[in-house]
Amino acid sequence: MISKNTIDTVFETARVEEVIGDFVNLKKSGTNYKGLSPFSNERSPSFMVSPVKQIWKDFSSGKGGNSVAFLMEHEHFSYPEAIRYLAKKYNIEIEETEQSEEQKEQANEKESMYLVSEFAQKYFQNILLNTDEGQAIGYSYFKERGFTADTIKKFGLGYSPEEWDAFSKEALGKAYKLYYLDKTGFTIVREDGRHIDRFRGRVMFPIQSMSGRVLGFGGRILGNDKKAAKYLNSPESDIYHKSKVLYGIYHAKQEIAKKDNCYLVEGYTDVIQMHQAGIENVVASSGTALTPDQIRLINRLTKNITVLFDGDAAGLRASIRGIDLILEEGMNVKVCTFPDGDDPDSFARKTSYDELVAYLDANAKDFIQFKASLLMDEAKNDPVKKAGLIRDMVSSIAKIPDKIQREVYIQECARIMDISEQVLASTLAQLISKDIADTGRKMKDEQRANAMRPVPEEEYFDPSMPPDQQQERINILDGLERRMIEILLLYGGTEQEFEDVYIKYDEFGKEFEHSEKKNYKVYDRIYLNLQEDEIQFTNPVFKDIYKAAIDHYMAHQEMNVDVFLNGLHPDLQYMATDIFMQDEKYILHDWEEKKQIPVKDKAMSIAAYTNEHIIDLRWLLLGRLIQDLKMQVSPDADNMEILMSVNDYNTLVNYLSRKINRLRSSFF
Ligand code: CTP
Ligand code: MN
Repeated sequence: MISKNTIDTVFETARVEEVIGDFVNLKKSGTNYKGLSPFSNERSPSFMVSPVKQIWKDFSSGKGGNSVAFLMEHEHFSYPEAIRYLAKKYNIEIEETEQSEEQKEQANEKESMYLVSEFAQKYFQNILLNTDEGQAIGYSYFKERGFTADTIKKFGLGYSPEEWDAFSKEALGKAYKLYYLDKTGFTIVREDGRHIDRFRGRVMFPIQSMSGRVLGFGGRILGNDKKAAKYLNSPESDIYHKSKVLYGIYHAKQEIAKKDNCYLVEGYTDVIQMHQAGIENVVASSGTALTPDQIRLINRLTKNITVLFDGDAAGLRASIRGIDLILEEGMNVKVCTFPDGDDPDSFARKTSYDELVAYLDANAKDFIQFKASLLMDEAKNDPVKKAGLIRDMVSSIAKIPDKIQREVYIQECARIMDISEQVLASTLAQLISKDIADTGRKMKDEQRANAMRPVPEEEYFDPSMPPDQQQERINILDGLERRMIEILLLYGGTEQEFEDVYIKYDEFGKEFEHSEKKNYKVYDRIYLNLQEDEIQFTNPVFKDIYKAAIDHYMAHQEMNVDVFLNGLHPDLQYMATDIFMQDEKYILHDWEEKKQIPVKDKAMSIAAYTNEHIIDLRWLLLGRLIQDLKMQVSPDADNMEILMSVNDYNTLVNYLSRKINRLRSSFF
C-alpha cells in the first residue's frame, strides 16, 4: 500500500492544470482554463479547469473532481495507479506502508515479474530494430504484413533471436534472477540444468494491461510451418491471466469510451491493422470466446460491443455460441462479417479509412436479428431443424437481463422466423423460470444490490397525498437540501455572526423572545442545529456529502477542496465539484444574467441566509419525521413514547412555522 504521507505529497505537488494539460488542449480563460471535453465529441468547450480550486468540471458529461479523479476517468486508472502515475510525473518517491511479510513478498514478487517482462519487451524490440538478424527476419516480416515503423513502435513489437538461450543469458547478465525468468516463463529450466528460452526465432507481441504494463507475450513463428504452433504464448502466471486480459485494451480504452463502442476481433494482427487504418476502439480476445472477466473490462468503458468475424462460415457458427455470454452481462451486441476469405486484418489493409468505416457502419447488424436470419436460412424447409432453432434463439434472448429488450426481440424474431409471438413468449417464460432456478446465486447478488439502492423518494411520503403535492414536496425538499450543501461547502469554513433567539417568560409567565448575537463557524452552526433534531437528509447523495463535509471541517476547520474531494466516492465528487464550480459554469455559458448563486446576489448576509435555510430544512424534515412516527403507531401496543415524541416535534414545527410565517397546513 502507498503510504498516506506519499498520497499527501502527491496531492500537494500535483497541479490539476498540468496533469490535464498532458491530455487536453487547455486555453486560459480568466482565472481558469477551458477546453474541449475529452469525454464527448463536441465543438464548443465545456470543460473547465480551476487552478485556484485545483479541480475540473466537464459540463457536458457532468463529471468532475481533482487530478486523481481525472486520471481515473480519462485513463481508467485505479486509484493506486493514478497516485503512482502522478508520483512518477512529479518525481515523488513512493513510500509503502507497513505490510505483512507475506504481503510484502507477494507484492515484490509481482513487481519483479513486471520488471522482467518490461526488460524482455525492450530486449525483443532492440533485437528487432538494431540487429542484422532482427532486421532481416523480424522487421522484414512485419513490413511484408504492412506494418509501419510507427505501428511497430506503438505496439512494442519485437523479435526473439533463433538461439537457445540468447534472452536468458542477457537477462541473467543484467542481474535478473532466474527465479523470476522461470516464473514469467521466459526461461525454461531443463532437467539437465540448462536454461533455454521459451521464445526462439519468433516475432513478439507484448500483451499489456489496461494501464499499460507488460504482462506477457504472444510469439508468432515466421511463415506457415504446419508442424509448429503458429503462436506460442506466455504461460499463466501471477501477472498474466489469459482470461482476464484483452489484447490492445491499453491502446483502445480511450477510443472505446469516446466512441461508446468496442470492436472485438480475434487476433493480434487484426487489432494492429485496424489501428493502423485509423480505428482504435478495437481489442482481441486472442482466439477464444470472451470470458466474463474480459467482458467486464469492456463493460467499464462501454455497453456496446461489435464482434467482427473472420470470413468463413464454419467458424461463424461456433463463434456465435460465445456471444450469449456477452448478452448475459447486459451488453448490446452487434456483429459484422467480412467478405469470404477476408478477416479484419486483410480487409483493413486493403481499404481506406473512409471505406472501412462505411463498411462497418453498413454491415454491423444486431446480434439477435443476425442469428435469427442466419439460422433461418439453414432451417427454412426443415421443420425439425426449425424447432431446434426456435429454442436456440429463445435461449439467447433469455440471457438478456432487460425485460423490455427481451420483449422487443421476441417481436423481431417472430417476424424473421415467421412464427407467432405467443409461442416464442411462452418458450421464453419456461426458459427464464429454469434459468432463475439455475442461477439462484446470481439472483441473490442482484437482490443484494437492490437492497443497497437508495429508497425511492416516493416512499418517504404519505401515499394518501395527491401526487402533484407529493412531487412538489420532493422538489422543495431536494432544493433545500442542495442549498444547505452549497452553503456548507462554499461558506462552511467562514466565521459569521449569528443571532440566536430564545423563548423566555416574563414575571407574569408571558412568553417573549430574547435574542443574542454570537460568532460561529458556519459548518458548526449547521451541524449543531441539524443534529439537535437528529434529522437526516433524504437525498442519499446529499446525505453522504453532508457527512463527509462535516467530518472534513471537524478535521481541518476549513474547506480544503482537493483533500475533501479526494475522500469522496466518484459519484459524490461529481455533485460536489458541480457546487464548487458553479461560478465557472455561468462564466462558461455567459449566463451572467441567470446567475443564481446563493448569497452573492442577495442583500442578505451569509449568516441570515444560512439561518433561513436551516429553519426551512428543519421544518420540512421534521414534518417527515412526524409522519414516520405516526406510521409506527399500532392499535395493539403501548404507543405512549411515540405519541409523546410526536407531540414534542409538533410543538417545534409549530414554533418554526410561526417563525417562517407559513401555515403548517399548506404543506403537511
Ligand atoms: N492463437 C494462439 N495460438 C495459436 C493460434 C492462435 O494463441 N496457436 C490466438 C492468437 O492470439 C491469435 C488469435 O488466436 O492472434 C487468432 O488466431 P489466428 O487468426 O490464427 O491468428 P492471427 O493473429 O490472425 O495471425 P495471422 O494473421 O498471422 O495468421
Ligand atoms: Mn486471423
